[in-house]
This record gives sequence, structure tokens and C-alpha cells, in this order.
Amino acid sequence: MSIRLAPSLLAADFSRLAEEVAEVERGGAELLHLDIMDGHFVPNLSFGPPIVHAIASHSKIALDAHLMVTNPADLIDDLVAAPVARLAVHVEICDHLQRTLETIRSGGVEAGIAINPASALSLLEDALPWADFILIMSVNPGFGGQDFIPETLGKIKRLRQMAAGTQLDIAVDGGVCLENVASLANAGATTLIAGSAIFGSRDRASAIAEMRRAATVGGEQ
Ligand code: DX5
Ligand code: ZN
Repeated sequence: MSIRLAPSLLAADFSRLAEEVAEVERGGAELLHLDIMDGHFVPNLSFGPPIVHAIASHSKIALDAHLMVTNPADLIDDLVAAPVARLAVHVEICDHLQRTLETIRSGGVEAGIAINPASALSLLEDALPWADFILIMSVNPGFGGQDFIPETLGKIKRLRQMAAGTQLDIAVDGGVCLENVASLANAGATTLIAGSAIFGSRDRASAIAEMRRAATVGGEQ
């Protein structure tokens, strides 16, 4: 399966959002990852649907929304309307996961389940038929720039086995960088989300190209 790169806007310069988005779009990123945080599910506030709508109307890049809020179901219609291309809700906070995933899909949006580092994969096993992708958190959500939690590699491998025979997209989010993308691709990750490693580098296009090269070569081993 091919690798997709998703720069996370959380690490961008918020005073020049349009230029930041244009830069990674020109740099060949397939997706733009958008971290929506409410200060309750995670101890940080970021941005919400109005910013997502503004980005959607000023760029063509596919938007990948990651909801870190206590009331994910309440935001779905607004984000589907933006539109986003993908929308992930956390397994830890979504009481009616099957219904929520179906609602996302019925809006023509790919539905994803995000899972925290210490949450068991068994929590989402029965929901796989309604999920287009799984978003494996490799840091505790809330902030960019944290160190990758190495146990995530084993979790990605186990999920790839659990989904054997399917084309499940496994996304990994948190501390993804040039040094670990090859192992992530080898473990079975297909979407690599990176904030600081892309927006923190002066030349975003080169950062994207180098990560893609490292992930592709590593993933073929
Ligand atoms: C963390 C967010 C991540 C974050 C990743 O809660 O979900 O998407 O932006 O940032 P880096 O790549 O800097 O760890
Ligand atoms: Zn995220």
C-alpha cells in the first residue's frame, strides 16, 4: 500500500495560515491534518469548524480532521459541510461509535477511529467494519512536539494483523519524524501525520519529499 503524508497544521504559523497551507500543498502532501481540541478531552484548545471552513474554501488539499473533544457527534455535520475528506473520533470518548461512524460516512466522508497510546486495540476491533481508517496516537493527544512512544510500533503491527485481508488505512500521529518513518511503514502504517517535522523545517517541500523517500525505501525492506 502506498504511503500518504499529512502535515499537521497545529505546528504551523497561525498568523499566516493560508501561506502555510499553500506551501505543504505545493510540496506534495496528500492530506492536511487538522487537530480540533476543546480544552476538556485534552488539556489544550486549538481551533474549530470556522477555521476548517476557511481553509476548505481557500485550498484544494484534502482535509483530515482529528476530533479531540468531549462531544464529537455535535461537530460532525458542520465539518462534513466544510467539507473535510476524513474525520476521526476518539474511541475513548465516543459512546455510540457505530452510529457516529455511519453518520460520518453518510456525509460522503471517510470515517476514522482515533485511539490513545494506552488504550487497547480490542476497544475498536468490533467497529472495524464501519471504519475507513484507524488513527493510532503515538503520543498522548493535546500538544505537538512530543516524543514518539516506541511501543506504538508493536501496536501498529498488531492492528495490521487484526485487519489482515483488508486495505485498512492505518494513520500514525505524534512524534513522527524522518528517523522513524521507515519503521512505521514497515510496521504497516499507511498515513504518516507530522507536525513539527514538517512545519518546523524551513523548507517544507524538502521535508515532505525526504520523509516520503525514507518511508518508501524503508517500507520496501
Ligand atoms: C497531538 C496531535 C498531533 C500533533 C502532532 O494531539 O493530534 O496531530 O499535531 O504533532 P507532532 O508531529 O509535532 O508530534
Ligand atoms: Zn492529530
